[in-house]
Amino acid sequence: MYQQYRFCSPKKFLRTAMLPLVFALPLSLLTPFRTFAQTPAVAASKPVHPNSELGDPAIEARVEELLKKMTLEEKVGQLVQYSAGQPTGPGTGRTDYADMLAKGEIGGLFNIVTAKETNAFQRIAVEKSRLHIPILFGLDVIHGFRTEFPIPLGISATWDPQLAERAARVAAREASATGIRWTFSPMLDLARDPRWGRVAEGEGEDPFLVSAFARAYVRGYQGRSLKSAESILACPKHYVGYGAAEAGRDYNTTEISEHTLREYYLPPFHAAVDAGAGSIMSAFNSLNGIPASANAFTLKKILRQEWGFQGIVDSDWTSVGELLNHGIANDGAAAARKAFQGGVDMDMVSSLYHDRLANLIRSGAVSEADLDEDVRHVLRVKFALGLFENPYVDEKRESSAMLLPEAVSLSREVAERSFVLLKNELLSNGSPLLPLSDDVRSVALIGPLADDGNLMLGSWGGLGDGRDVVTLRGALVKKLGDSRLHFAKGAEILTATDAQIRAAVDAARNSDVAILALGENGPEMTGEAASRTHLDLPGRQQQLLEAVAATGKPVVLIAFSGRPLILPWAAEHVPSILAAWFPGIQAGPALSRTLFGETSPTGKLSMTWPRSVGQIPVYYNALNTGRPAVQNDATPFPNGHDEKFVSRYIDESNLPQFPFGFGLTYTTFSYGPTELNKPELRLDWLKEGLTNVSSSSPSPLQASANITNTGSRTATETVQLYIRLQGTSVSEPVRALKGFQQVTIAPGETKRVVFSVLPEAFAFWNDQNVYGVEPARVTIWVAPNSASGTPAQIEIRNKTN
Ligand code: NOJ
Repeated sequence: MYQQYRFCSPKKFLRTAMLPLVFALPLSLLTPFRTFAQTPAVAASKPVHPNSELGDPAIEARVEELLKKMTLEEKVGQLVQYSAGQPTGPGTGRTDYADMLAKGEIGGLFNIVTAKETNAFQRIAVEKSRLHIPILFGLDVIHGFRTEFPIPLGISATWDPQLAERAARVAAREASATGIRWTFSPMLDLARDPRWGRVAEGEGEDPFLVSAFARAYVRGYQGRSLKSAESILACPKHYVGYGAAEAGRDYNTTEISEHTLREYYLPPFHAAVDAGAGSIMSAFNSLNGIPASANAFTLKKILRQEWGFQGIVDSDWTSVGELLNHGIANDGAAAARKAFQGGVDMDMVSSLYHDRLANLIRSGAVSEADLDEDVRHVLRVKFALGLFENPYVDEKRESSAMLLPEAVSLSREVAERSFVLLKNELLSNGSPLLPLSDDVRSVALIGPLADDGNLMLGSWGGLGDGRDVVTLRGALVKKLGDSRLHFAKGAEILTATDAQIRAAVDAARNSDVAILALGENGPEMTGEAASRTHLDLPGRQQQLLEAVAATGKPVVLIAFSGRPLILPWAAEHVPSILAAWFPGIQAGPALSRTLFGETSPTGKLSMTWPRSVGQIPVYYNALNTGRPAVQNDATPFPNGHDEKFVSRYIDESNLPQFPFGFGLTYTTFSYGPTELNKPELRLDWLKEGLTNVSSSSPSPLQASANITNTGSRTATETVQLYIRLQGTSVSEPVRALKGFQQVTIAPGETKRVVFSVLPEAFAFWNDQNVYGVEPARVTIWVAPNSASGTPAQIEIRNKTN
């Protein structure tokens, strides 16, 4: 057992940890570079795998000993999981959990949120069941528990995985104080369709960026050791392909080729597994005709055999039962059998494992050896978490663990770093509208999101409480005083009266500047089951915006959303636009400090903002097509054959409104040309480097650029490295992110940013779905976003060439 399912062989681990795609060269001790890759030296000298605990022989021995004592029903019980609190999906009608626990028929419960309740249920499991096996309590701790952070899409816009790790650590501390030792997070579904409400829960459209966050969240939740009372098990979800739901409609079908799956959708999950994630959630969607929760190709071949995953595969909520609706099972027994044989260990909520699995085994339809294997996955995690030694939580620790000052201030820091300045036009006085001057005489604050704490929590707000939130209005009153702030709500999210709009216009007329806090209702219009077909400002908010802008007063639009919005009018007419996502409990202070320049925005988009719904999906790392558009702006109707027979619209530009990686700040940066330190790359070096980290292959390629702060403020820039491969056996994207660094540069100062590009940056899944390198023409950009930068070229050659 231990041999077969060792979590990650040392060789594999060494390879994974030793080969970050890109790491930064520290050029100067004074240069505050932030680099986002594992540090090879640390990993090499001490290959501490967080989940070496799951492969611990001492744990294996205890698992085997316990397994021998278990009846068939008790084994099945370990695979059964119910929600015993506020439901987060359609109900099953079941409530007899106390009885079931006493009989050893439940392995895990979730949606229970107080220490008193978890202890009460645990007491039944531990004291009344025959084998005293503790249960595992789970919850969707998605962007904080009580201390709410920005939504994950916002966190990803920081381009700083360390912030995500620190936020996840806070969430783990708070959640574990109530006995919750398992979070259904992070969501790693790569997503290209902003109609899909769940883009709010993820990290955007790029596999490299999502993977960096995947590792960070796992580290943050699971800490140094699962055994620590403050560690919670991570559960990357939704495995796999869920983000490709057709037409952005939640729960919808997905069709993804194996190539695309391996190149885009799987890497974040692989990164999470390599970082030690102890569980994974199978998704709702059907993937190429086979539902993800019965998909032996992804759950067994890839996850278990190729990646060596040893933890729990948990189904999503009733996704086992949903195999009937998918049409691959005609009764509950068939659904249970197919999910079980497809690789799902735990059945979340559908109750079909509870109802059917024992009979399926008795009848020989499925094997008891397979059941034992699944039970091992669950018990192993429970032992690793130390639940057998410490099944209960100290109820006194609960309240004192929440909302600690350092947690609250981290929430503000993450919020500030998540804001993306999309536009900041120069006014007639030659200065940009933002930041506002402290001397501004009066400010009109308008909009349904200006003073509503609950809305700031977004979807999956955990135990977040609107009363913990400092709203933008609250923060601005503190900063400016009541007399300088003219507040008018102007509209509800979905409705507005003419009188409300008139009052807002009056407020703007009486002020020097108008700040409009507009957007979506986070809890209701974003997240699960919240797909939209119209991605503009809901209700009459656009009308409100235009009416206020018509006063001629300078307007700052703060867009609150759980997705890229489509704001072509604002992009053209509103001087300053700040994407604020849903910032969490410190929304107000973070926004106020940003608006008044106490801090400069540093966020960059992790997902493309389209110009119109008809462009969707529009994402930066696309293939080129055989007929790329000659010019991307198709606003003029095609003139002649050369303009017509290309991949374009006849009524819309191909270009997005704001590209992936884009974000402004209160200074400007100019990028020098991309420079490479080698004339060519040899295929054999790259191959050697890919497979053998300890080899003495030549030093990696260095790609660099000089970046100058051409403005008047010190600010931080996220410098991005993109690569394109041509001449390969499969088409590769027009650009693919392969590295990023954050660098702080003073006005007038130039810093040289150097990326050390390792072999994996040139590797891809080839026409045989094998991962490797090939001879290719490589174009490289060191750039501020995915749509700019100057290219440099280099060839990967066979040594015989
Ligand atoms: C369904 C959602 O898809 C999943 O993300 C969540 O973790 C479960 N419900 C449990 O609440």
